[in-house]
Amino acid sequence: MRRLRTSPAMRSLVRETNLSPANLILPLFVHEGDTSVPIEAMPGVSRLTLCDMQRTVERAAAAGLGGVMLFGVPSVKDETGSEAWNPCGIAARSIEAARQTAGDTLVVAADVCLCEYTSHGHCGVVESGAISNDATVKLLAQTAVCYANAGVDIVAPSDMMDGRVAEIRKALDRETFVNTAIMAYSAKTASAFYGPFREAAGSTPAFGDRRTYQMDAANGREAMREMQVDADEGADILMVKPGLLCLDILGEARRRFDHPLAVYNVSGEYSMLKAAVRAGWLDESRAVEELLVAFRRAGADIILTYHALEYAERVRNIH
Ligand code: PBG
Repeated sequence: MRRLRTSPAMRSLVRETNLSPANLILPLFVHEGDTSVPIEAMPGVSRLTLCDMQRTVERAAAAGLGGVMLFGVPSVKDETGSEAWNPCGIAARSIEAARQTAGDTLVVAADVCLCEYTSHGHCGVVESGAISNDATVKLLAQTAVCYANAGVDIVAPSDMMDGRVAEIRKALDRETFVNTAIMAYSAKTASAFYGPFREAAGSTPAFGDRRTYQMDAANGREAMREMQVDADEGADILMVKPGLLCLDILGEARRRFDHPLAVYNVSGEYSMLKAAVRAGWLDESRAVEELLVAFRRAGADIILTYHALEYAERVRNIH
């Protein structure tokens, strides 16, 4: 077996999996403050002002990234999360600004969920202490239309309500946004590894947890059913999340689905790696490369990762 490992050229010739900045989507948090604020648990990641977000989008385009994924962090939250679909809210404004900067050099995606916008931090409307599925789905569809109107290419529902992909597709088509694609967070488990994100988005649930809507991480077969349902409802891209913890699910999804598959390398996975790098325990560029290749090898076409820009600038030698 070692004959094919003798030189870099030989190894490159027989390499089975390739990785390009074009496969990567960089998640970005945009807030209404007038300065960008670093997120303590995610070294290198900040809640950005609109202006700094636009600068980052410029860099992302220059580095050849496939896209950016926008998360709005509003300064006002309420019971139903109404800032999510406010056409003058932070989410819609950040989509317009990113679209303006990016032109068609990269894809602009937006997370569709209510948890960043609700005062209680849950992903949907609370009725008698429970998350109401159908009331939430209506608001998500309205939110998706608002983002399509602002110029987004892809809406990415991350709420885990039932039937939301069908409802979002119907609403988009009704408003003539037939070309707005849906990337569904299909197999998304209730994970401790979203902790740093919740600091970033200020979306920690005020009571209870997300286990009545996000999947039990013990269930791989259920993940396939979730993906099938979203595929049947018209999702264009299916996502597995978290990434490192669900490589088995990603591999199985690759065998079953011909849809483009995305994987979300989540905040806690990012923070773990960064912490080890800071401690001097891991070599960052080698660790990140190996991590991203593992997602590709398992079957991901698209990787959402906070490492995207640093990685792409490193391989393209942009400083
Ligand atoms: C919103 C959402 C979350 C993430 C993406 N969209 C948080 C959650 O579900 O609690 C997590 C991303 C990350 O941890 O990097 N629902």
